[in-house]
Amino acid sequence: MPISLTFCRLCTMSRPEIVQAIDQLKCEYADDIAVVELNCMAACEDVPAVMLEYDYYPQVTPQELHELVNASLKQEA
Ligand code: FES
Repeated sequence: MPISLTFCRLCTMSRPEIVQAIDQLKCEYADDIAVVELNCMAACEDVPAVMLEYDYYPQVTPQELHELVNASLKQEA
């Protein structure tokens, strides 16, 4: 079952590096992650923020996002 990666579509529009990282992850792990785009996730002060399943991560960098997803997928395996 894929893990969910949730982010705010509106906030990440101003962070192209995160959009690119999410696009890379979608390609790399097409069957393993389900990307959920919201119009607001009540994280406007923490942009860019993501949720992996039920865990919240504020102000993530692309590198941190890759590491978080990889760690989450290893836990699921
Ligand atoms: S508008 Fe993006 S988190 Fe609120």
